[in-house]
Amino acid sequence: MTTPTPRSGRLAGRTALITGASRGIGRAIALRYAEEGADLFVTATKAALLEETRTQAEALGAKVTVHVADVSRRDAVQALVDTAVQALGGIDILVNNAGVYKASRLVDYTPEDFDRIMQVNVYGVFHAMQLVLRHMQPRGRGKVINIASTAGKWGSMNQSAYNASKHAVVGLTRCAAMEMGAHGIQVNAICPGFVQTDMLQEFRAHGDILGVPFEKVMEAGLARVPLKRFLQPQEIASLAVYLGSAESDGMTGQTLLLDGGMLMV
Ligand SMILES: NC(=O)c1ccc[n+]([C@@H]2O[C@H](COP(=O)([O-])OP(=O)(O)OC[C@H]3O[C@@H](n4cnc5c(N)ncnc54)[C@H](OP(=O)(O)O)[C@@H]3O)[C@@H](O)[C@H]2O)c1
Repeated sequence: MTTPTPRSGRLAGRTALITGASRGIGRAIALRYAEEGADLFVTATKAALLEETRTQAEALGAKVTVHVADVSRRDAVQALVDTAVQALGGIDILVNNAGVYKASRLVDYTPEDFDRIMQVNVYGVFHAMQLVLRHMQPRGRGKVINIASTAGKWGSMNQSAYNASKHAVVGLTRCAAMEMGAHGIQVNAICPGFVQTDMLQEFRAHGDILGVPFEKVMEAGLARVPLKRFLQPQEIASLAVYLGSAESDGMTGQTLLLDGGMLMV
């Protein structure tokens, strides 16, 4: 029997659990991680697109396990983490990327819509962080990368539930970093601005509320971005590679803006 050749790259020999990896930023992170030598455990609620991520990541040489799960459900995340630990032989990197968005004026949110955004964007991150950190702690190493948003750092019109949820992710990131430092675990967040994914299309509803066409909403958004363009998911993935690699071992508790210069705080 021949010994398999170790895969090279900045994440060689590392394993990663990535939520919301079926499309957009999550898929881009999965593919960059595969390129850099990581083995993957990818999850989302719909199987078909996840399988596409698997096919593309395997073509880059990664070992990939696909698992359908709704991160808002504690029992589903417990099963997800247990299966990932078995499949990967241990989780080195957790990327909490799954998220949902819905535009509404604060006075119009239904409690159900508000609750759904909190369940996925906040409780999803809490469940996965708590269960994976319990696994990482005795190993004395690990990386957690939470995908927050510029919405976690300032106010926006017609998306108070989303902004509240992303402020919570920023808070969870900072507190977890404080508690995990002594265990050799780094916890950081990426706060993207406008990124060209399906989620950007959800801004149509924002335009409907304001009574302006989608194009005008996008123009107004770009007017606040010094680089004058939307980011691509791959650009978020590049920062996620850094945060998942040994290169960032000295960094924890950071909530890094990657937004074309929109916020300078
Ligand atoms: N695009 C932007 O401009 C932008 C800016 C700042 C921050 N972000 C954040 O970046 C992350 C990724 O966003 P994106 O733009 O790539 O969005 P996207 O294209 O809408 O993808 C969202 C991903 O999350 C998954 N997902 C949604 N609900 C889930 C649940 N309950 N359980 C498990 N997976 C779930 C989706 O898969 P299924 O549909 O199969 O469930 C999909 O893979 C989100 O946290 C988002 O808030 C995005």
